[in-house]
Amino acid sequence: MFCIEQKKQALLDEIYTRRSVRQYTDRPVKRDLLVEIINAGTWAPSGLNNQPWRFVIIQEGEVRLALAKLTQSQKTIESASACIAVFIDKEAMYHEMKDFLAMGACIQNMILAAHVLGLGAVWLGEILKNTDKVNSLLELPETLLLTAVVAVGYPFGQKRTSSRRDVSEILLKEY
Ligand SMILES: Cc1cc2nc3c(=O)[nH]c(=O)nc-3n(C[C@H](O)[C@H](O)[C@H](O)COP(=O)(O)O)c2cc1C
Repeated sequence: MFCIEQKKQALLDEIYTRRSVRQYTDRPVKRDLLVEIINAGTWAPSGLNNQPWRFVIIQEGEVRLALAKLTQSQKTIESASACIAVFIDKEAMYHEMKDFLAMGACIQNMILAAHVLGLGAVWLGEILKNTDKVNSLLELPETLLLTAVVAVGYPFGQKRTSSRRDVSEILLKEY
């Protein structure tokens, strides 16, 4: 049994050790795991609990390779076993800022869940320059707006570094 202190530390460890993964092995990711990642995304908070997120799983080679061509992160998508395209349903929105913040929380949950499940993932945003082309490729109506593509796979290699500013640099004031 985990005591409360261990549980807290376990969650913080997952937050601190997650890294963006852009290179993957050939090992396929089971659909159950992709659904688990999506489910974790849906447990993000949203204003009025309106849950504006919608998802498309892309595993099939031809579609994934066509998706890859729409971003500078082409190699990442080509290497990934799967991608999850994350859309906001414009018809479900009630407040632009709050709805997009909820989408960010959803996507963060997804990449963190992938990490906890032993997978690697990366949040891809550069592809948003081609939102219309993504909708055409996936045969989706314009009421769905792409917010990110999450590439998922088993990480290739070990060492991944990242950095953050120290809290003392970004904490503006304390009253
Ligand atoms: C809104 C957003 C867009 C991003 N777009 C891309 C992208 O298009 N390609 C990519 O390789 N990484 C992308 N990333 C990942 C960031 O580069 C990465 O999170 C950042 O460099 C910190 O690294 P870390 O996640 O390993 O800590 C994006 C992240 C966010 C939040």
